[in-house]
Amino acid sequence: MTTTASQIDLAARSFWERPQEERDAAFAVLRRESPVVWSRPAESDLLPPEENTRGFWSLTKYEDIRFASRNPKIFSSAGGITMEDFSPEMTELAQSFIAMDDPRHAQLRGITMNAFKPGNMRRLEGWVAGHARDLIDEMAPLGQGDFVELVSVKLPGRIFGSFFGLPEGEVHDRTIDAAQRLLSWTDPEARGGLTALELFGGAVMELREVAAMLAEERRRKPGEDLMTWIVQAEWDGERMTDDEICAFFVLLAVAANDTTRHASAHAIHAFSRHPDQRDLLMQDIPARIDGAVEEVLRWASPLLHMRRTATQDVTIRDAEIRAGEKVVLWYCSGNRDEDVYENPYTFDILRDPNRHQAFGGGGPHFCLGSALARTMLKTLLTEVYTRIPDIQAPEADFLVANFINGIKRLSATWTPEAA
Ligand code: HEM
Repeated sequence: MTTTASQIDLAARSFWERPQEERDAAFAVLRRESPVVWSRPAESDLLPPEENTRGFWSLTKYEDIRFASRNPKIFSSAGGITMEDFSPEMTELAQSFIAMDDPRHAQLRGITMNAFKPGNMRRLEGWVAGHARDLIDEMAPLGQGDFVELVSVKLPGRIFGSFFGLPEGEVHDRTIDAAQRLLSWTDPEARGGLTALELFGGAVMELREVAAMLAEERRRKPGEDLMTWIVQAEWDGERMTDDEICAFFVLLAVAANDTTRHASAHAIHAFSRHPDQRDLLMQDIPARIDGAVEEVLRWASPLLHMRRTATQDVTIRDAEIRAGEKVVLWYCSGNRDEDVYENPYTFDILRDPNRHQAFGGGGPHFCLGSALARTMLKTLLTEVYTRIPDIQAPEADFLVANFINGIKRLSATWTPEAA
């Protein structure tokens, strides 16, 4: 049966339960027939029905996503960045400057930029390489296991821990666990009996507690880590308040952990499904790894969307968007746009150019951690395909979510490396 645009309901939970191929096919129909489309309010567990009254526009074409991303005066980030609405209190507690506009966004982003300067990035690269090697040392002799549990969860967690200066042990593990729970509110299994709000709110409060404790400690005893730079950093003579530090910690815990976690699982899954591309990579890893990482990012689109709110009436194609309406930017669709990519459904590590939208469509909110994410994926994939090159993981267990393109479990086998 052929699907038409009017039959596609991006607001429905059931749409996000469907396999990725079916969702991809639906977005292809939208790009062709109705590239800027209006939806009823997203089915939500976060707000009671009487408060969940706002529908949303979807941008499905690469060019439109790029346009909205680069015109923040028309497409504001204040007021929320997800298709589903959160209460304003939750947005403030958890989303920091990703949900703000300039000048405050630029100011807070500026304070944190110091942490991402080249000297600090070089230190991070050392950590990334060390942690990736340690993890593959631990898994290589096993011969089988869940790649998500053995590597995907642990690598970004350990890097984040080193970056932020989290003490090893219970606090570290609790923090990473809370960060990973945070974006799973739509998945009944991940919620484990809690309501979406309990899961989300609980994880946010745990992360804020750790942040407050760590900030206090770093003021007393500075170290060589992100929290020290944050509590000391000034921008136009201003420092971040405690509340701002806590919200930034929550944002970064989630932005840095969940995205890279799922990207690494998608990488192993994609190479298992496309052995010709794995062979191509292995013929010359140093020359092909950068292209492979970009294609994994395009292919996976670990963040499926970000949202904006129109600040004025604006027409895109023939859609008349009114001031105050929500506009969702579907990166997963932009990354399959036939007008931009030849054979968009082919996983091709030699694709060139490959200006994907996995880190956003450009503009002031472009992913702050893109360099770190690329380094992490490059280092990890190099280590995996050098040490355990025959790793196979073609069957994935996906998260049900409309924001994160997640893999919950990825059962893998490989020839054990001699201990
Ligand atoms: C594969 C991994 C990652 C993906 C796919 C990803 C994707 C994104 C996307 C799509 C945005 C929003 C862009 C926009 O609205 O225009 C974003 C923003 C952001 N990302 Fe990432 N990200 C990743 C890794 C990271 C890492 C490792 C960090 C931190 C070290 C990070 C920190 C941030 C921050 C702080 C923002 C907000 C920037 C702002 O509002 O100015 N991300 N990311």
